[in-house]
Amino acid sequence: MMWLPCGCTSKYLFTSLSRRIVKYYHDFSGKSSNVLACMPEAASFEGVWDHSGLYEFSVGHTDSFWGAAARHRLTWISPFRSVQDCDLRRGTIRWFEGGKLNVSVNCLDRHVHTFPDRVALIWERDEPGTEVKVTYRQLLEATCRLGNLLRRHGVNRGDCVTIYMPPCPAAVVSMLACARIGAAHSVVFAGFSAEALADRIRDAQSRIVITVNQGVRGGKVTELKQTVDLAIQSCPSVQKVFVAMRTESPVVMTARDIAMEEVREQKDVVCEPAAMDSEDVLFLLYTSGSTGKPKGLVHTQAGYLLYASLTHRCVFNYHDEDVFGCVADIGWITGHSYSVYGPLANGGTTVLFESTPIYPDPGRYWEMVQRLKINQFYGAPTAIRLLLKYGDHWVHKYDRSTLKTLGSVGEPINTEAWEWYHRVVGDGRCPVVDTWWQTETGGICIAPRPSAPNAEIVPGMAMRPFFGIRPVLMDSEGKVLTSNNTSGALCIAQPWPGMARTIHNNHQRFIETYCQPYPGYFFTGDGAYRSKEGYYQIIGRLDDVINVSGHRIGTAELEDVLVCNVTVYAFVVLKKEVDVQEADLVRQLKDMVSKNIAKYACPDFIQCVQRLPKTRSGKIMRRVLRKVVERDLDGLGDLSTLDNPAAVQEVIQGHRDLC
Ligand code: PRX
Repeated sequence: MMWLPCGCTSKYLFTSLSRRIVKYYHDFSGKSSNVLACMPEAASFEGVWDHSGLYEFSVGHTDSFWGAAARHRLTWISPFRSVQDCDLRRGTIRWFEGGKLNVSVNCLDRHVHTFPDRVALIWERDEPGTEVKVTYRQLLEATCRLGNLLRRHGVNRGDCVTIYMPPCPAAVVSMLACARIGAAHSVVFAGFSAEALADRIRDAQSRIVITVNQGVRGGKVTELKQTVDLAIQSCPSVQKVFVAMRTESPVVMTARDIAMEEVREQKDVVCEPAAMDSEDVLFLLYTSGSTGKPKGLVHTQAGYLLYASLTHRCVFNYHDEDVFGCVADIGWITGHSYSVYGPLANGGTTVLFESTPIYPDPGRYWEMVQRLKINQFYGAPTAIRLLLKYGDHWVHKYDRSTLKTLGSVGEPINTEAWEWYHRVVGDGRCPVVDTWWQTETGGICIAPRPSAPNAEIVPGMAMRPFFGIRPVLMDSEGKVLTSNNTSGALCIAQPWPGMARTIHNNHQRFIETYCQPYPGYFFTGDGAYRSKEGYYQIIGRLDDVINVSGHRIGTAELEDVLVCNVTVYAFVVLKKEVDVQEADLVRQLKDMVSKNIAKYACPDFIQCVQRLPKTRSGKIMRRVLRKVVERDLDGLGDLSTLDNPAAVQEVIQGHRDLC
């Protein structure tokens, strides 16, 4: 069985390295030109006066750098004793030990003291023009009310609450209320099926689930409460389900369910924040691995928050009172770090986007930019590629003069999409920051910014490591590649505060996945190219994880679902005796993926083949299949180890017929 990504992303991955590199220079003159403006605490670092000095300092004097950043940026209940105690070989990562703080205080209370009426959240609801604004004071009150309610229902410090909600203030309130009382949260993307949700609830052993009656997206209503009801049939740990009302439509409530409206009846808007240790768990976030079930990556309090806030500030050049528009769903790490924790820690105004890029029409993003006066827009290449096909007029219709920075995340952005984003959306005047990072890294690790004034930005390249990040490339023998103009496995040579600490309930898997492949280094699972100039370009996953619409999914997870159909093997290889209409089978398999994983994971193409190209030792040659799908037949490479060369021709022919 075999699964491959298909389409322009993967094609781009393997052709981009040889393309002509076009460079853009951005004028960072003026206030924002000084990198120290985004990190004033760096003024105390001796000899540091420019970007490269600050970067060198950050990787050479890690404790001074992160210690100063943590003291300056976070509000502590009691100070930390040591900056870090990490050992990548053993997979132990501990930052700011001895310190106590509360994340919700850092995201709310301290801003309420200085600017209570500043807008914290703009909930951009599905119907354009119906946005809802929530101030810092309101957000703190709602968080405290829910915190009190959760405490009353027996949620304790250390419990894990599962949140199954689309982007909305109630979801953010739920996350922050957990942080307030010291419970961890696990936000599960509201597009996931009941089975996928149940897997995650069981793994986290949640007693409490928070959801909404219905979701609304792209004009369509989804029955989220019903999905929760179905999921928890196989989750004996769940005792209570809190239900917020997104629509007027009533849902069946059982004795186990609690209407979130009760929150409003909570008179007490004071909720004592729990004094959390720096290394207590803040949240779990499940992501696909190359084998087995999704893994619950664990992020902790202080290091994560510090890293999310500093990257948000520096990479996007975020200034006070800017409106930050990250359109990712809160079910992904991008939503956690750049819709919620980073902007709120910085006292920012952040947009929660409920809709789709093409609802009600392909001008949605840019109409929203005009209406909400968005200054930084952060989206995914998959949406940019989709929108560029609809034409420039959808963009030109709207005033985008407030935009200052455009961000991209989740997968490589091909040159055509990058240039369209830069030229059409940003009118050629906004830097495009292609940001590389992962659920595991907690925040952005490689991005064009921060950088020296007038530094170049190369289309489609993540380019420069962030402060404190030391990327290295490894060859196939595990040796560090020291030269430029080379590619290899991307590792990070020293710990940073935002990195995940472990996999929930499975530290051994954490060690095996990230620490053992290259002892002493954090292995990212990605391949990268380092240009002559020393800039990084991400090539893509080296393992069996694929990127579908910017979301990560393990081939094993897909295959697990597909094999449940006893009549087939997939990529898809039919057993000889099977007599079935191909179209029916394809439809059936697509339905299964939608139902068992999520709609977004549903394949665009399923190719039925007689057999797959295999090595003599029986391994499927995925590399060859990928090249066929990319139509890069010249790049098939060495086929001498193939056991059945004719299989390649069959796959090529089948692919031609299908596409
Ligand atoms: O392969 C890389 C790709 O997305 C993976 C991480 O996925 P996830 O944990 O879901 O987080 C996505 C949002 C941070 C990476 O291992 N990826 C992410 N950003 C980029 C990227 N690939 C190329 N360029 C990027 N800018």
